Amino acid sequence: MLKITDAPTGSPYLHLDEMQPWNDHLQTLECVWVTDEAPGVKTFAFRSDNQTWFRYKPGQFVTLELPVGEEPVMRTYTLSSSPSRPFSISITAKAQADSIGTRWMFENLVPGMRVKAYGPAGGFSLYDHPAGRYFFLSAGSGITPMMSMLRWLYDCAPMTDVSFVNCARRPDEIIFRSELELLASRMPGLSLGFLVEERPRTQSWFGPTGRLDLTRLALLVPDFADREVFCCGPEPFMRAVRVLLEASGFDMQQYHQESFGTGPIEPVPAEIAEASDGLLPSEAPEVATTPVTFTLSGVEAEAYSGQSILQTARASGVRIPAACELGLCGTCKVKASGPIEMNHNGGILDDDIADGYVLACCSTPRGPVSVEA
Ligand code: FES
Repeated sequence: MLKITDAPTGSPYLHLDEMQPWNDHLQTLECVWVTDEAPGVKTFAFRSDNQTWFRYKPGQFVTLELPVGEEPVMRTYTLSSSPSRPFSISITAKAQADSIGTRWMFENLVPGMRVKAYGPAGGFSLYDHPAGRYFFLSAGSGITPMMSMLRWLYDCAPMTDVSFVNCARRPDEIIFRSELELLASRMPGLSLGFLVEERPRTQSWFGPTGRLDLTRLALLVPDFADREVFCCGPEPFMRAVRVLLEASGFDMQQYHQESFGTGPIEPVPAEIAEASDGLLPSEAPEVATTPVTFTLSGVEAEAYSGQSILQTARASGVRIPAACELGLCGTCKVKASGPIEMNHNGGILDDDIADGYVLACCSTPRGPVSVEA
């Protein structure tokens, strides 16, 4: 069990306004507690190892670098904590049968252990879509970003009108159920609904059972058409919700869903493919390249036209951590200078860009560049 005296010796207590925000490039995370939430679901809470606070929007995620084998694995987890409690963050994860990273955390991650993390990042937040009335709809562990947003509303805007519906297989698999019921007793504008697939044999259950359809949706949230909808869960669930809402005539401008996407398969630059297409090296047409200097590794590389900084780094043996490879998660943030074109999807803050950072996965050199990696 950690004690407050475990803080670095001689380090005085700092008030929030005296602290710097956590910097994922400088500080690791220290696990401070682990708790069971539901069968196969745990929450892991972290603080920074260097008195800092966490700046993020409710609903955002972090990427953890987990030392699973010889090569660490990157896994992205939505934060279940609220930025209104900024001294620590927590993630809530379900260990699927075939999971590697989450299974490692379940078996190895204990208080006192440190892990590297990147972020927070992501645009799935009510901050970005202010509305008078919300509808949070989730299935299984998709409840995590909703919990972050609801905890934030409870702390900062408890009168907000929220309809919160969670779908689960069985009642005992409803994550955060007792906390949700407590919040509902204290937030006058919060209405809760649970939908379970299987009626339990040994417990009483007074809520609806079955799968979500238009009839059940209208019973759970009669005015759903007038609400800003946030949806998170397995992809088939979110697809089914989109179909339902579209069929009901819902204005899909008011619909938002969590999506990490999947990393793209790295394309072979067209010039390389063409150049190697049956031609001997001496016969290959000249291919345009741009010099890239990786200053920390001391590597001089060449980026082919269209190749990202991340692809160039990999091709030259320089390691830049990356998870989503879509410009979303912020894991591949590096300091770089020179003419660079970046097309990100919200994974980097304007402040970071002003400080000279880019996301390597979605940045392309447009002339000689130098990268701190
Ligand atoms: S790897 Fe996620 S933003 Fe680059």
